Amino acid sequence: MRLKDKKAIVTGAGQGIGKAIALKMAQEGADVVVVEWNHETGIQTQKEIETLGRRCLFFAVDVGDRRQIEKMIAEVLIAFGRIDILVNNAGFDRPGNLLKTKEEDWDAVLDVHLKGTLNCIQAVVPHMIEKSYGKIINLSSVWGKRGAVSEISYSTAKAGIIGLTKSVARELGRHQINVNAVLPGFILTPTVSRMAEKYRNIIIENTPLKRAGQPEEVANVVAFLASDEASFVNGAEVEVSGGWNM
Ligand SMILES: NC(=O)c1ccc[n+]([C@@H]2O[C@H](COP(=O)([O-])OP(=O)(O)OC[C@H]3O[C@@H](n4cnc5c(N)ncnc54)[C@H](O)[C@@H]3O)[C@@H](O)[C@H]2O)c1
Repeated sequence: MRLKDKKAIVTGAGQGIGKAIALKMAQEGADVVVVEWNHETGIQTQKEIETLGRRCLFFAVDVGDRRQIEKMIAEVLIAFGRIDILVNNAGFDRPGNLLKTKEEDWDAVLDVHLKGTLNCIQAVVPHMIEKSYGKIINLSSVWGKRGAVSEISYSTAKAGIIGLTKSVARELGRHQINVNAVLPGFILTPTVSRMAEKYRNIIIENTPLKRAGQPEEVANVVAFLASDEASFVNGAEVEVSGGWNM
């Protein structure tokens, strides 16, 4: 129960890594806000959290929409009175190589990852500053560090999340707000499971642990960073990749 009575927001919590994080936070004793634009999956996560005996609020909003996010944070503060943890996890990929990357895909991918993360941080931070307490964890990717063929928009967005994390960590450290990035490797989520087997096998072959990761293996690290056990970890890039990026 490392997060007993903490109030945590998790974006993109309807499935995959975000859902695993939301459930892990609840198992560790937190009340959770599920942020997910897919109504059906968001409700399902909410039900599972309530089954664990924790309070859960669900908001079917788009993290890229600043007004929706500001309104949501105001409502969360009325309901929960506090926000201790923010996990920026919502995102999607639109693969494309350099010459085939379309402007609308570039904009959509940068919007969800960069604007979405910025929107949530800006909306939550005045409250965290007031309390001199906060844990912000942003989901980047090993592709944000090493780049990837045919992943122009996604790798750029994930690299941007690392820059944003470090800059925000520098600005907010004096308020005792820890800001860190988690960089997953190849994690078996519903979306990633659709990848063609030949591509999957190449990644697994290049991963020293010789397997894909599970969403719960990322969630465990996020929960650690959200806890006071990680009180002196700030501005870090924590890879959860089975050593793929060494
Ligand atoms: N799975 C991997 O191998 C992997 C590797 C590296 C990084 N990541 C990152 O981890 C995060 C989660 O990945 P995943 O594989 O679980 O993804 P996923 O596609 O399984 O789940 C993402 C969730 O976010 C929601 N979402 C997307 N855009 C949204 C928006 N604008 N507003 C609200 N909700 C939105 C989706 O509906 C979905 O439920 C993403 O940021 C992803 O880029 C994943």
